[in-house]
Amino acid sequence: MAVHCPLIAQEGVIITGSLTQNPLQQPLGELPVIEFRGVYKTYQNGTHALRDVNLKIYKGEFVFVVGASGAGKSTFIKLIVREETPNAGAVSVNGFKSGAMTRRDVPRLRRTMGIVFQDFRLIPGMTVFDNVAFAMRVVGASNFDIRKRVSSALNLVGLGGKARSRPNELSGGEQQRVGLARALVNNPSLIIADEPTGNVDPNMSYEIVELLTEINRRGTTVIMVTHEHQLVRDFNRRVVMIESGSVIADSAAGGVL
Ligand SMILES: Nc1ncnc2c1ncn2[C@@H]1O[C@H](COP(=O)(O)OP(=O)(O)OP(=O)(O)O)[C@@H](O)[C@H]1O
Ligand SMILES: [Mg+2]
Repeated sequence: MAVHCPLIAQEGVIITGSLTQNPLQQPLGELPVIEFRGVYKTYQNGTHALRDVNLKIYKGEFVFVVGASGAGKSTFIKLIVREETPNAGAVSVNGFKSGAMTRRDVPRLRRTMGIVFQDFRLIPGMTVFDNVAFAMRVVGASNFDIRKRVSSALNLVGLGGKARSRPNELSGGEQQRVGLARALVNNPSLIIADEPTGNVDPNMSYEIVELLTEINRRGTTVIMVTHEHQLVRDFNRRVVMIESGSVIADSAAGGVL
């Protein structure tokens, strides 16, 4: 059961039962990169994590996903990255449709996206360079490309000088920036981040979101779950609010909070 979020009541946001999409977000004639249609997710223990979620996200959008603990945000993300499958309804991501995917499609789908984790998930025995390079090696990139693109990804996140360090020699914020470099090194069209700033200090949170907005400016669609409402207000992007498994608000630019 999700905890009631007092901010909703405070700001007097109109609560709607089932939002299909935000009309302001829909570029004419373009297919959404992500579409949820009537999606329900119930876990095996009977928990209803998502109920009738309808949502479209278009190329180039930056979307914050907010809501109380237990609201269903991570479940929403897990359906996008195919860590979970819906019980009813359809999820479509980068042309992969939940009802029509084979097991081999799962790695194919994941190659179209970069994923940033709250707990970084770096490999401790590897240098910063190799942690980022690893994402390219698994997709069979050449050594030439790896050297070039890993360096530029590390420069982009401000860690060009730390390539030879190990994760345990870095601060939390630096480790997360390595996570970001790893997520973007294969040039994905979509970045998915579930609380990427959950384990870093507030200043570094801003830097991480700054970097994500910079990546977004270059054309990458970004979806970021966060608890940090001030951050959401400051960056003024589309906000999807989930409560008790339902999308209760969807606002074009920060207005929900
Ligand atoms: N694997 C699971 N099996 C059973 N129930 C689960 C599982 N994962 C999540 N849940 C339940 O589903 C609901 C939604 O969980 P979810 O992790 O999506 O919430 P959340 O919004 O990400 O919360 P938080 O902000 O704490 O990360 C919660 O009630 C949670 O207890
Ligand atoms: Mg979560």
